[in-house]
Amino acid sequence: MTTVHGGFDTAELRAANLTRDEVLDFSSNINPLGPSPRVRQAAAEADLSAYPDRECLVLREALAAHLGVDIDQLMVGNGSTELIHLLVDTHVPPWATCLVFAPTFGEYEAAADATGAHVKFVAADAAEDFAWRIDAAVQTIEATRPEMVFLCNPNNPTGVYLDRESVERLSAAVGQNGLLVLDTSYVPLADDRWDALPLLQCGNVVLLRSMTKDHALAGVRLGYMAAQPEVVAATKSHQPPWSVNGVAQATGLAALADEAHVAAAREVIAEAKAYLQAQLAALGVPAIPSAANFMLVRVDDATKVRRALLRRRILVRDCTSFGLPDCIRIAVRRPEECARLIAALRDVLAHG
Ligand SMILES: Cc1ncc(COP(=O)(O)O)c(C=O)c1O
Repeated sequence: MTTVHGGFDTAELRAANLTRDEVLDFSSNINPLGPSPRVRQAAAEADLSAYPDRECLVLREALAAHLGVDIDQLMVGNGSTELIHLLVDTHVPPWATCLVFAPTFGEYEAAADATGAHVKFVAADAAEDFAWRIDAAVQTIEATRPEMVFLCNPNNPTGVYLDRESVERLSAAVGQNGLLVLDTSYVPLADDRWDALPLLQCGNVVLLRSMTKDHALAGVRLGYMAAQPEVVAATKSHQPPWSVNGVAQATGLAALADEAHVAAAREVIAEAKAYLQAQLAALGVPAIPSAANFMLVRVDDATKVRRALLRRRILVRDCTSFGLPDCIRIAVRRPEECARLIAALRDVLAHG
């Protein structure tokens, strides 16, 4: 199965006679400020000729100090996408079941499909702004006894953000024979954040974090997970050597030391999000409430609207691949960039 993602498609841009620089990308949910100057400097200074540290020791030490966990509870990956696939490869045999809270990021299903595992879904309620019913989800987990459960929190693409109590209930339902993989990639840029790290004490929780979102390192590829040491050790044994390159390790270290950059991004996002919500409502296409740095907008035909916006040099995510052909997803960028999106969308809604 091929998973659809946001971001630029070079062939599509070529066909439209456009370059990346000419198009504003609202389809990738990353820090609107880009990488911090300190991170750019670390990338420029990285040793390109040496093999990277296969154990990511220095980066894991820094992460351990930053998070307050043991170093053997941490594993670094070539983006969190690599970790999702390694987790399934390691812990989900082909006869097993993966349960996915949907609609969501496509790589959970793709990873499970690739191993031949059964994939089941807990479907969100579209009429309730895509909330999940936790009582029903607990029952489904208890009836299905999945080996692995994927929950993206806050969720891509809906922006639904479950509270701690709900996640604890899900973890208890999964029990100690399964793993609850909690993808917290969007927490650093979310509203009303809560710290998921204490959930590691549940024993069956794996926390996934991507540094490609909050530190805008999508082109570098960097993510990590925190879990019980035995889960980390088993997963690590499936990882190819040098998966996490030297530039990624160097920029990750610099990024960790620059939390102020993420805090600055949160302020920009708060202002731009309020602007977008007001403007979208005024256009008659109100955003679905979201705790994250992106939002869903219902339009008649997402594929058509995306295409029309691209002609106006704006790229948004068509959510058809999430099973939402009437929704586009918009990342929150700087207010002046959001103003360009709103102007283009106004034109599209008026003239197609
Ligand atoms: C929820 C979620 N998890 C993980 C990823 C992948 O992140 P990475 O760039 O770290 O592989 C994405 C990317 O869109 C995502 O939306």
